[in-house]
Amino acid sequence: MKRRGDLLDISALKVVFYTYRGVIKALNGVELWMNRGERLGVVGETGCGKSVTAKSVMRLIEEPGKILSGRLLFEDKDLLQIQESDLRQIRGSEISMIFQEPNSSLNPVMSVGFQIAEVLAEKNKTKIKKQYPAVAEMLELVGLDAERVMTMYPHELSGGMAQRVMIAMGLAPKPKLLIADEPTSALDVTIQAQILELLDQLVREMGNAVLMISHDMGVVAEFCDKIMVMYAGNSVEYATTEKLFKNPRHPYTKGLLQAVPRIGRIEELKAIKGTVPDLVSPPPGCRFHKRCPHMTAVCQKEHPSFIQVEDDHYVACYLFGNEGGGGH
Ligand SMILES: Nc1ncnc2c1ncn2[C@@H]1O[C@H](COP(=O)(O)OP(=O)(O)O)[C@@H](O)[C@H]1O
Ligand SMILES: [Mg+2]
Repeated sequence: MKRRGDLLDISALKVVFYTYRGVIKALNGVELWMNRGERLGVVGETGCGKSVTAKSVMRLIEEPGKILSGRLLFEDKDLLQIQESDLRQIRGSEISMIFQEPNSSLNPVMSVGFQIAEVLAEKNKTKIKKQYPAVAEMLELVGLDAERVMTMYPHELSGGMAQRVMIAMGLAPKPKLLIADEPTSALDVTIQAQILELLDQLVREMGNAVLMISHDMGVVAEFCDKIMVMYAGNSVEYATTEKLFKNPRHPYTKGLLQAVPRIGRIEELKAIKGTVPDLVSPPPGCRFHKRCPHMTAVCQKEHPSFIQVEDDHYVACYLFGNEGGGGH
């Protein structure tokens, strides 16, 4: 298959979770790609597979989950094929990740300074001690009083400070790709705006590519060059932010965008009737067909593949001509 992004190119990615309820078919053939230095937003309702996609990039899917199949090219390597030891080199130095809940990734018994120094020491193959000047510089860059914050422990930080620390830790190794999974969703609105502004400025200076995950179309539209819309484990539409807003093609995207000005959050979406399918027994064919106003017989048979409709614009929907077979 032709390469679509020179930094990251994920195709046909399938992930399942083996649970007592049955097999959750969480990712059903995700397609996602990025160029160097680009910002891609991934949006969709809760449970559609955004975090699983993000974790898959770092191969961080744990029991009871499993990456079943797919191709995950990062530059010239398929991250699904390489050894765990080679992957460790990439994690945290070439690709780093910040999460919604800083406390799930900060170690409660280590000082902030030590934790960031550790990440840098690992990348630069030096002693941890040697990295403290670089850590201080990084903490200042994210707007914190380095001298004070360096010796603090995670529980002493406010939500906004903790997220700044996460950004410092994520960007310190100068990763080619920063994955930010709902980095501001747990913060109140004014702090959210400050953090996004900070991230915007730092990333612009450092030139990192950012995969920004959010259930908030507003956040993604403001921050990203391109947007991928996910629905129930599938990529359903990909376009530049401008094209997606001006000319959305997929019926689901249209519904999302109609909901935005009034409500803002996809969570509260009522513009599309019906509910997200259960991923243990999803409907055959297009997983959106039961809610779709344009449903035809073919939509119930096979999942449509992701096809290009114009430059930088792809959609998985039979309305735009499709052979089907895009994973099920
Ligand atoms: N550890 C887990 N165990 C079982 N199911 C999981 C686990 N993590 C994720 N899932 C399932 O995978 C699907 C996608 O989850 P996720 O990627 O977290 O959604 P979101 O888009 O909200 O980030 C969900 O339906 C969820 O039930
Ligand atoms: Mg999530």
